[in-house]
Amino acid sequence: MMKITSYHENLLSDKERLAVFFEAITNKARGIVYDLGTGSGVLAAKAAPLANHVYAVEKNEISAQTALNTLSHFNNVSVMVGDASRIEFPENADLIICEMLDTGLIDEELIPVIKHARSFLREDGNIIPCAVLNGVEPINLRADHLCYQEELGEYFEVMGPLKIYDHLDLTREIDEKVDLSLKLNINSPGKVNGIRITTFTLLTSDIICGPTPMLNPPLLVPSNSLTVEKNQEICLNLKYIMGGGLDTIKARIN
Ligand SMILES: C[S@@+](CC[C@H](N)C(=O)[O-])C[C@H]1O[C@@H](n2cnc3c(N)ncnc32)[C@H](O)[C@@H]1O
Repeated sequence: MMKITSYHENLLSDKERLAVFFEAITNKARGIVYDLGTGSGVLAAKAAPLANHVYAVEKNEISAQTALNTLSHFNNVSVMVGDASRIEFPENADLIICEMLDTGLIDEELIPVIKHARSFLREDGNIIPCAVLNGVEPINLRADHLCYQEELGEYFEVMGPLKIYDHLDLTREIDEKVDLSLKLNINSPGKVNGIRITTFTLLTSDIICGPTPMLNPPLLVPSNSLTVEKNQEICLNLKYIMGGGLDTIKARIN
């Protein structure tokens, strides 16, 4: 039996993450299914009994070996080793599953992969997830570097309410470049020197999931520092490239 990496063990131990994907797959899997970024093969294995054929794509060769092992007892699954943003699929899909999620879709390649794979999707086909909502809050951050909330514990304070700034419909064309200005309200006096980005995933139109231990942990991003009053409105300029990596994030407030 192939040894599964600790990264994939952690993904498999996140029951909430798996539960929402399994429910969505049970509702939508049929015909030809792509599982892009198959990793351990767990989502392809859920889809296989419901589909005619599953193409499970993985670019990491060690993970692809694990997937081959997990999926070897299905005679309707092909594991393809390669970059899902370039691969040529042998037939069009009724369903695309792509769990390459990360907060804001900034660090993983979900957007470029879906952009490419969507051209192989049948007109009445579905994508899991179908949409992503991103929200932002002003924070006081007691760290000078970008980090995930789980790494920092309580070393930050939320200074104002969450504002949803993006509703990404993955079934449509999406510009990878985000460059927006938005107003944020302040609840308490003090210092704002960062933002928290939180992502919510719509697996299907009626299954929504917030952050779980291995799915989109909230991201804390430093900005310049501003002294604020209660009920003040501040302006945030936020830039990043989806799929471009965390180094592309720039946050400025005034
Ligand atoms: C978050 S893991 C999900 C694994 C598995 N689908 C699951 O749900 O447990 C994302 C997987 O996508 C793979 N991946 C990332 N970018 C890829 C790309 N461009 N093409 C193919 N696989 C990719 C990673 O190697 C990783 O195994």
